[in-house]
Amino acid sequence: MHTREFFGLIITIDGPAGSGKSAAAVLLAGKLGFAHLDTGAMYRAVALAAMQYGALHDGAAMAQVAREMRLEFDAATQPARVLLNGHDVTEAIRTREVTQATRQAADNPEVRSELVRRQQRLAAKLGNVVSEGRDQGSVAFPDAEFKFFLDADVRVRAKRRQQQLAAAGMAADAADILRDMQQRDREDQSRPVGPLVKTADAIVVDGTDLTLEQVVDRMASLVQAGKPIGAAGECRR
Ligand code: DC
Repeated sequence: MHTREFFGLIITIDGPAGSGKSAAAVLLAGKLGFAHLDTGAMYRAVALAAMQYGALHDGAAMAQVAREMRLEFDAATQPARVLLNGHDVTEAIRTREVTQATRQAADNPEVRSELVRRQQRLAAKLGNVVSEGRDQGSVAFPDAEFKFFLDADVRVRAKRRQQQLAAAGMAADAADILRDMQQRDREDQSRPVGPLVKTADAIVVDGTDLTLEQVVDRMASLVQAGKPIGAAGECRR
């Protein structure tokens, strides 16, 4: 059975940590009147739930946690609040501890297939969606109308992350942040299931020298022109 007929228009944004995907996805979704799906928040929620149930180092138990957890996005605010088993975990899933533990969830093939299933179900319910993550164009929505790969030089991503942390009152060493970022890039790219890849039909946006607004304007104008282009820059339709 072909899945396309059940979805509205789907735009995927994949890219490495710190590339600005989440901020771009929220703004693009707002501009187009689409729903926004933050799939990184889903992996983070599995890691947090697994920590709560002592299942972080037991792959089968973690997969069970992923299958049984109740996960909701409350879209009354943008970005949406994340509710895990009825509790608001929007901030709790962003701590350094959970960020580091999330690797266990992201590397677990059973967790990944469960979350991809949930992402597809959610998208079918939401209609037009901007879905962001690492494997949205490659695995979750291979038939998406528009696939963006948002990249930026790792040093620029690390610098931006340091500025975000400083703005939130959390001083952090620039060299540590750069090392963390390079480590996460290696993990994201080498994951045996659902790794971060640029699909051949993805539109690559290099945000190294662009502001967030310029990134979003570029994406929105391509979508509004209705002309997805491949990485080589040629028009596909
Ligand atoms: O985008 P983020 O930093 O919130 O993602 C958190 C983690 O989840 C990150 O380590 C990569 C992983 N992830 C993934 O493997 N697949 C996705 N679709 C989204 C995130």
